[in-house]
Amino acid sequence: MGGPVMAESILEVENLTKRFGDFTAVKDLSFEVRPEEIFGFLGPNGAGKSTTIKMLCGVLMPTSGKAQALGHDLFTDAEKVRQRIGYMSQKFSLLDDLTVGENLAYFGQLYGLEGEKLKDAIAQRERELQIKPLEQLLVAKLSTGEKQRVSLAASTMHRPRMLFLDEPTSGVDPLRRRLFWEAMDDLVLDGMSILVTTHNLGEADQCDRLAFIMAGQLMAYGRPRALKEDMGRRVVEVRSERFRELQREAALHPDVISAELMGRGVRLSLPAQANPEAVLAHLRGQGLAFEPKSPELPSLEDLFIKLVQDSRKEA
Ligand SMILES: Nc1ncnc2c1ncn2[C@@H]1O[C@H](COP(=O)(O)OP(=O)(O)O)[C@@H](O)[C@H]1O
Ligand SMILES: [Mg+2]
Repeated sequence: MGGPVMAESILEVENLTKRFGDFTAVKDLSFEVRPEEIFGFLGPNGAGKSTTIKMLCGVLMPTSGKAQALGHDLFTDAEKVRQRIGYMSQKFSLLDDLTVGENLAYFGQLYGLEGEKLKDAIAQRERELQIKPLEQLLVAKLSTGEKQRVSLAASTMHRPRMLFLDEPTSGVDPLRRRLFWEAMDDLVLDGMSILVTTHNLGEADQCDRLAFIMAGQLMAYGRPRALKEDMGRRVVEVRSERFRELQREAALHPDVISAELMGRGVRLSLPAQANPEAVLAHLRGQGLAFEPKSPELPSLEDLFIKLVQDSRKEA
């Protein structure tokens, strides 16, 4: 590739902290977002996700810490990068009493677009996000899924390099959610980096990398697959008519970390180095009949449940 050497990271956050009075909402948070990645930002309600995004978008001043985006300090040199950052907040900031087309024009102008450039940008966004048929409709008349796509169009009118999306897909059905993710994939292919918060662990699995925060602190950070592998566990699902007995019996086995009911089956969590066959043979020896599925990596849900449980134990 010619031209300047590409920076290793688009966004670097170092020891970011935000206190509201004597309550610490974000504590010593450090992470980075790399070029052209979808970075998932996860955590329970109140974890500090929106507060972090607001600081990175210049809406809220941090108590301490540093952040660099596209080679500029976000807190002291923000005006140099503002135009290359996009932000879609948890509550859409669309204007309800304007049409979709008018909203796009309005936001495009806020970002400094005008004339042909503005027209082109509107046409391109409408095509990409499949919202052209909505152009003449008032935003107030749109469904949640439509508002989300229009909102994404509005927050990317200026083709930002770094885009922050705060729960962009909450409250929509799986089909709309998939449409939204396809749109995000297109933006990434186009050179954008995206930080997105979500409660949906299926979405989290699709992220290139992710951070899981709790009570304002980083609890897990990395590629979804690596995070699952690092748990050092395997999961085996077994189906049985006598699932309650199976669960009780399995829980007594020294190699079983947990045995959870899942519908009419049981989900066994074992250390990665344990032999699942030996555990299953033992259960069969107890007179229990079942069909096992092949052992798998734990899910992100397993990981997050564990992190939440561990933190409760410490507290
Ligand atoms: N302006 C504020 N003043 C006081 N507390 C706040 C303010 N904004 C957020 N908080 C608190 O900070 C914590 C983190 O909030 P938030 O970042 O919105 O969490 P999340 O987006 O992860 O659900 C919550 O306990 C919230 O009540
Ligand atoms: Mg939030």
